[in-house]
Amino acid sequence: MAEPLLEIKDVHVEFEVRDGIVHAVDGVSYTVNRGETIGIIGESGCGKSVTAKAAMQMLPKPGKVSQGEIIYHRRSKFDPSKPQEVVNITQLDPDGELIRHIRGGEFAMIFQEPMSSLTPVYTTGTLIGEALALHRWVPVTVGEQMSNKIMQYRHVTKEESREIAIEMLQKVGIPKPHERVDAYPHQLSGGQRQRVMIAIALSCEPFMLIADEPTTALDVSIEAQILDLMRELQQSVEMSIMFITHNLGVVAEMAKEIVVMYMGKQVEKADTVKVFYEPKHPYTRALLQSIPKVGRRTSERLASIKGMVPDPFHLPSGCVFHPRCPSFMPGKCDVIKPKYIEVEPDHWVRCLLYEDV
Ligand SMILES: Nc1ncnc2c1ncn2[C@@H]1O[C@H](COP(=O)(O)OP(=O)(O)O)[C@@H](O)[C@H]1O
Ligand SMILES: [Mg+2]
Repeated sequence: MAEPLLEIKDVHVEFEVRDGIVHAVDGVSYTVNRGETIGIIGESGCGKSVTAKAAMQMLPKPGKVSQGEIIYHRRSKFDPSKPQEVVNITQLDPDGELIRHIRGGEFAMIFQEPMSSLTPVYTTGTLIGEALALHRWVPVTVGEQMSNKIMQYRHVTKEESREIAIEMLQKVGIPKPHERVDAYPHQLSGGQRQRVMIAIALSCEPFMLIADEPTTALDVSIEAQILDLMRELQQSVEMSIMFITHNLGVVAEMAKEIVVMYMGKQVEKADTVKVFYEPKHPYTRALLQSIPKVGRRTSERLASIKGMVPDPFHLPSGCVFHPRCPSFMPGKCDVIKPKYIEVEPDHWVRCLLYEDV
C-alpha cells in the first residue's frame, strides 16, 4: 500500500519583482509516496526547481508560497513504530530548528548548480563528515530487558566518518577515493564536484531525496552508476525520490509516476507507462516527440515544440499552452482556462480536449 511521505497540495509560489508578480508555480499538487520515485518534467523555467525549493522551505527571496500547503508525514528515524508526526512545511520558520533538522538529515537535495553549493575551504572528507556528524547516528545496545535489546544512538566518530566518506566517494565513482577525501572542491573536476554533492546528500540516508537535474553534467556511464546507487539506497532505507529532469529516458527508467509541468502549471500526471504510451496533453505529446530516436537518420531534424515559452508578465489568455498547441481550438482554448480533471483513474490532465466545452 502506498504511504504518503510528502503531499504538495495546490501550491502557488509568487515572486514579487520590480515589473510585477511572477506566478512561478500556479497550483501544483502531487504526492510523493514512501520508497517511490516521482518524476517531474517540463521545459526550463516551468517551476520545477521552485516547487522543490518550496518543499525544503528554502525559496530564494522574494519568493513565497502564497497559497496551498506542503505536508510532511514524519517518521522517527530510529523507531519506526512511533506514531508519525504531520508537519506543515510551509508554516515552519525557514531558519528554525525543525526545518534545519529535516533538511540534510531527512530530506536531501541535489542541486542543479554544483559549483556554488560546495564550500571551497573544506575538503570533501570534511564536507561529508560535517553532514554525517549532524545527521547520521549509530545504534548501540545499552542493555537488555526480557528479550528486547535496549538501544541508544550515538554520533559517528571522526574515524567512522572518514571511512563512510571514502566509501561514499567510491560509490559515486570518484577515482582514488582514499586520496580524494582530502581534496578541496577546486581540485576536482565539475563532474567530480557534482558527485561529491551527491555523496553528501546520500550519506545521511535521507527519507526524501530531491534530485534536481542531478546527472545532467555527468557522462553516461557515471550517470548509470549514480542512478543505480539511488535505487540501491531507495531499497535499503525506503527512500523516496523527487526526480526533476528534462531527460525523458532517465525519468522513464527511474519514476513510477510522472508530473508534467508547463508555465508553473501541472498539465498532466499519470503512471510512467501511461505518460509514455497514452499521453493525453498535447504538450506531453510534443515533449515525447522531441526525444531522439535510435535509427533516425542524422540529417532528419528532431521534432521540437513550435513557438517560444511565453513571457511570464504577459501570459496567454485561456490555456497558457494554446499559442504553441497543435490541437488549438479557436474561440475555446484562447478563452477558457482548462480545469485539472481525472480522465481515467489516477490520470489527470489540464486540457479542453477532455472537457465538454
Ligand atoms: N529568484 C527568482 N526571482 C524571480 N523569479 C524567479 C526566481 N527564481 C525563479 N523565478 C521564476 O520562476 C520560474 C520557474 O523557475 P524554476 O523553478 O527555476 O524553473 P525550472 O523548471 O527550470 O526549474 C522562472 O521562470 C522565473 O520566472
Ligand atoms: Mg530547475
